[in-house]
Amino acid sequence: MAVSAATLAAATSTFAQPEPPDARAKAIVDQMTPDEQLIMVKGSFGWFSKSGDAVIAAGWVPGIKRLGLPSLRESDAGMGVANLMGKRTGDVATSLPSGLAVAATWDPDIAYRGGAMIGSEARAKTFNVLLAGGVNLVRDARNGRNFEYAGEDPLLSGVMAGQAIKGVQSNHILSTVKHFVVNDQETGRNVLSSRIDEASLRESDLLAFELAIEIGQPASVMCAYNRINGVYACENDFLLNKVLKGDWAYKGWVMSDWGSVHSAALAANSGLDHQSGYTLDKKPWFGAPLKDALAGGSVSRNRIHDMNFRIVRSFYATGLMDNPVPITPQAIDYASNAKVSQEAAEAGIVVLKNKGNILPLVLGARKVAVIGGHADVGVLSGGGSSQVRPVGGPALEIVPKGAAAAFARITYFPSSPLKALEKRYPSSQFTFNNGDDVAVATALAKDTDLVIVFANQWATESEDLVNMNLPDNQDALIEALAAANKKVVVVLQTSGPVAMPWLDKVAGVVEAWYPGSNGGEAIARVLAGDVDAAGRLPVTFPTAATQLPRPEIPGLIEKKNSKGEISYGLDYGLKAFDVDYNIEGANVGYRWFEHQKLKPLFPFGYGLSYTRFTYSGLSLDPSNSLQVNFTVKNAGKRPGIATPQIYASVPGRDGVRVKRLVGWQRVTLKPGETRSLTVRIDPRLLANFDVANQRWKVAAGAYHLVLGKSSADSSATTTVQLSELSIAP
Ligand code: BGC
Repeated sequence: MAVSAATLAAATSTFAQPEPPDARAKAIVDQMTPDEQLIMVKGSFGWFSKSGDAVIAAGWVPGIKRLGLPSLRESDAGMGVANLMGKRTGDVATSLPSGLAVAATWDPDIAYRGGAMIGSEARAKTFNVLLAGGVNLVRDARNGRNFEYAGEDPLLSGVMAGQAIKGVQSNHILSTVKHFVVNDQETGRNVLSSRIDEASLRESDLLAFELAIEIGQPASVMCAYNRINGVYACENDFLLNKVLKGDWAYKGWVMSDWGSVHSAALAANSGLDHQSGYTLDKKPWFGAPLKDALAGGSVSRNRIHDMNFRIVRSFYATGLMDNPVPITPQAIDYASNAKVSQEAAEAGIVVLKNKGNILPLVLGARKVAVIGGHADVGVLSGGGSSQVRPVGGPALEIVPKGAAAAFARITYFPSSPLKALEKRYPSSQFTFNNGDDVAVATALAKDTDLVIVFANQWATESEDLVNMNLPDNQDALIEALAAANKKVVVVLQTSGPVAMPWLDKVAGVVEAWYPGSNGGEAIARVLAGDVDAAGRLPVTFPTAATQLPRPEIPGLIEKKNSKGEISYGLDYGLKAFDVDYNIEGANVGYRWFEHQKLKPLFPFGYGLSYTRFTYSGLSLDPSNSLQVNFTVKNAGKRPGIATPQIYASVPGRDGVRVKRLVGWQRVTLKPGETRSLTVRIDPRLLANFDVANQRWKVAAGAYHLVLGKSSADSSATTTVQLSELSIAP
C-alpha cells in the first residue's frame, strides 16, 4: 500500500513526539475534581515534620496518585543538595563553590555543568525539585546572601543563573529562579519595601530574571519576602501577572518563598500559584481560605485551573512525568562530582594583586608559614537554607553568635588548603599557626620565607554583614604580618567584597570566595599555577561602605541578648520600612561607580592572569551592526584564560552616559596564540525602558563600544551608529 509522505510524517510525529506539555497538562487538570484542584497549590515546610512520602528537607507538596501526579520533594539550593544543620541524619552532598564564585568563572558551561551535577545528586536522593537559581543582584556588598547570587550585572547574572538552572533541569527535575524580586538585603526582608521606579527595575533586577528565565526555562519562579513599592512580592499583580506572565509569557508556576504569603484571594488573583511551607505563614492561605474564596466568588474556578495547569505543565516541560525520580536513593559518584566542583572553584578564584609575580608560588625548600582561617582543616561555606552538609562531614562547625545560632553553623568543608599545599610542595617546610595570637603569628612570619594568610568572612541567610571589614581582628593580623614579612599572600574566603586596609602592604591577594567541596585543592592549584588564575570579579569591590549607594544598611538594628552579645539585622520586631533603590536605580555596581565618578578598590570584571594578553582590533561586523569582532593574543609565556569584555557606553534616562556590559568571551590560549572572537549584542542591553509606551527603546545615535579587561579598562574602542529601535518587553 502506498503511503503518502504527509501521512507518514504525521504518523511518525504522533509516535515519536509526545504531545506538547500544554496539551498534556490541560488533559490532566481537566480531570481533576474541584477538591483535587486544591491539593497541589499548597506545600508544607519539611525540616521539622514529615508528611506522606516526604524526605526531611525544605518542602513537600502532595501529589495526586489517581492522575499519576507525583508529590514534590523540594530541596534547597544553588550550591548543592542542602541539609540544614544535618537534620537529615547522615546525608551528605557535593557542594559547588558559592554562586559568586561560579559567576566569577564567567563560563556559562561551568555554570551548566555545576547545575547538572547538583541536579543529578538531587535526583539520586529522590528530590524532584531543587530550589536553585538565585539571581538577586548584588546591590549591597553586605547583603548576607550575596554568596548565593551571581553578581551585580544583569547580563552576567542572567546568563550564569540561567545556565545553572538549565543544568539542574537537564536531570528532568524542576528548578526555580529566585527571589522575585529586589530581595537585595536580608535585614528586614519580611517587612521592608524596595522602592524603585519601573524603568530602573526593568533595566536591572528584572532584566537579570528575564534573561535567566529565557535561558533556563525554570519550572518555577519563587516570589520574595519583601514588598516592592509597597506591594508584597507574592501578591504583586504588576510583577506576577503583568510582567512575568504577561510581557514575558512565562508558562511555569509562581511559588512563594517560605513564609511570604499574606492573603488568599489577593495573592491568587495577583498571580501566586502555590503557597510553599504554609505553616510558616499566619494562615494556610491556599488551604481553607482559598476554598472559601472560591466558594464566595472572589477567586474564579479558571484561576484555580490555571494554578494547577502551570504546575502540571512544568512537570511535562521538564520531562519529570516521563522520567520520574527514583523511589529510593541511588548511589552517587562523589569523587567525580567533587571534580566538577573543583573545576568551578579553580576557574572562579580571582587573583587581585600579584606584586613582583609572587604567584604562582615557587617554593623549593623554603619555609612557608600558613596562618589563620582554619586552613589546616578545611574551607568555609555560607550559612542558611542553602547550607550543604559535605561528604566526609563538616571539618569544623562553630555556633555563630546571635540569632543565626538557631538555624546555622559556621561550617568548614573537609578540604584543607594547608594539606593540599603540603602535598603539592613536598620539599617545602610548612608551619601552621591559627592566627589567634597576633604576636605569636608575627614571630612565625618573621622567621619564614613566605606567609600565606587565610582571612575569612562568614555570611548567612537572614542577616546582613554589619560592615565590609574582615571580622575577628583579621585586618590587624594581616597588617602585623605584612610589617614582619615582605612576602605575604592573603587568601580571602568571603561572601563578597571586603575592604582591604592593608592592600598596599601585602604582595599578593587572592579571592577564593566560598570554594566548595574541593576548595582546598582548588586554592592550592591556583596558588601553584597548575591552572591559570582565570577568575574575574562579578562584583565591584568598593574601598569602603561609604562608596555604596546606602552607606548604612537601612533598618539595621543592634540587639543585645541577656549575655550582652550583640546581633544585627534579624527582622523580628522590626516595623515596615523602605529601602530606597532609586538612589542608584538601574546603575547597580560598576555603573554606580562610573555615574558617581568613584574609584573602587577593584573594578567589576577585574582579575589578573598568570600570562599577559593583548586585546585589539575591535570592529563592527560588516553584516550586523550589533555584532563586534576583535582579537585576543596571549603575549606571555604561559598558557592562560582570557575573558575579554565588551562594554557599551549608553546614555541613561538622566542623559548621563554609563558603561554597560554587553557581552564577553572566555578563551584558553597557548603562549603566542591569537584568536579572533565575536560578541553579539542583545539590543535590550543598549535600551532604556520607556514606561509610557511599555517598550524597550534604543535611542538613535552613536554608541561607544569598549573592549576591556574589566569595566575600568579600555584596550580598544569603536563606535556604532544606530537608528532608533523599539522592542517589546
Ligand atoms: C529562602 C529560600 C529557600 C526557602 C526554603 C527561604 O528562607 O529564602 O531561598 O528556598 O527558605 O528553604
